[in-house]
Amino acid sequence: MKRKVQVGLIGLGTIGRGVAKLLLGRQKELSYGRGFDLQLVRIADVDITTPRGIDLPAEILTTDAYQIIDDSNISIVIELIGGIEPARTYILRALEQGKSVVTANKALLSQHGEELLQVAQRNGTYLYFEASVCAGIPIIRIIREGLVANRIQKLYGILNGTTNYILTKMAEEESSFKEALARAQQKGYAEADPTLDISGLDAAQKLSILLRVGFNVSIPVEDIFCEGIEKITSRDIEYARELGYAIKLLAIAKRLDRFIEARVHPVLIPSGTLLADVKDEFNSVELTGDSVGTQVFYGKGAGEMPTASAVLADVIEIAQKGVQNFSLAENQISPTNEYLEVLPMQEVKTPYYFRFTVVDQPGVLAEIARLLANEDISIASVIQKERHQGGSVPIVIMTHQAKEKAMRKAIDNINKLPVVKAPTQVIRVEEV
Ligand code: HSE
Repeated sequence: MKRKVQVGLIGLGTIGRGVAKLLLGRQKELSYGRGFDLQLVRIADVDITTPRGIDLPAEILTTDAYQIIDDSNISIVIELIGGIEPARTYILRALEQGKSVVTANKALLSQHGEELLQVAQRNGTYLYFEASVCAGIPIIRIIREGLVANRIQKLYGILNGTTNYILTKMAEEESSFKEALARAQQKGYAEADPTLDISGLDAAQKLSILLRVGFNVSIPVEDIFCEGIEKITSRDIEYARELGYAIKLLAIAKRLDRFIEARVHPVLIPSGTLLADVKDEFNSVELTGDSVGTQVFYGKGAGEMPTASAVLADVIEIAQKGVQNFSLAENQISPTNEYLEVLPMQEVKTPYYFRFTVVDQPGVLAEIARLLANEDISIASVIQKERHQGGSVPIVIMTHQAKEKAMRKAIDNINKLPVVKAPTQVIRVEEV
């Protein structure tokens, strides 16, 4: 007889609904040929009265998450409420009771992942989190399994669907930032608090998880330099396009000798590259492994069904492991490389895009060039745009590589010039 694997779902938001649809609607298909019978036996949410557009048997709904966590028949708990508490308490208690947990909770993992993995390890259970990064792209499985023979040297990721959607709509439809965000929210891509998306923090949390899985380093999200897309204007997108670049919010990790670069910020990347062509809510990860070389992965990085797809992959793998009677105490994740430290942002070298807003008069460009030269920053190209209202004009300068420290000093000095009429726009460039 087939073994029953009972599953409980905590959190019936956008993703929870997708998971319930798959677990209830494809129950037979999901269990077929696998030696187990998967059953969604309980769903907990603080609100079980609002209609969700899906038929749910009333008897499986509860407002009490402990009816799942403390039910000895349930072996897999899916946590989809997000945030730190009460998610952390729920997960810890489920793991301590010998249950495996599947979560999409990047905020929690990026802060408490090490602790939770250790508790899972001690209790001989699994903590899986494929859905926490890049939704539908199985990037964690790719790194852990398909690329296991590699040392990952470099990673570029478009890891946030909402910001990629906003930047795409600003570039292609000339939507305003606000309109594009409202549409991303309607489509269910954005976090409950969309400032997490816009500020880059969501992408930094995901990068912290990828750093742990791909580079074996445990880097708290606070140590990842993070800048959002708030300051990006349609004008920058337009000038970047003229210069042969697209603007993307990129998560970047590079392995150096003793250091690792870990940063999230908007960048100019050359048009025509695979990453520049990633549009809307799609995500992409470009990985360079020392054996395999560079590979690019692409897919939907946000939304109900792509994220539910990743959750189900974890649930099935855990159920399968139970059936195959694998040792549940096997190592889930390798030990960390303690010797790798994050390279301080001040030491990071990139080329730059600067947009200066200046008075149109003789000598201004020479003055700016002098202050850049003082910090050893070499100019690659200059464009002066047409005259604008109020007498100030934009000057766009692209530079060669320079250290962040030097760039900040030069820009501070330039912003103090009386002929400079607004803070200078600075966007880093990455020749992906
Ligand atoms: N808010 C996230 C995004 C959802 O826009 O990418 C997926 O984690």
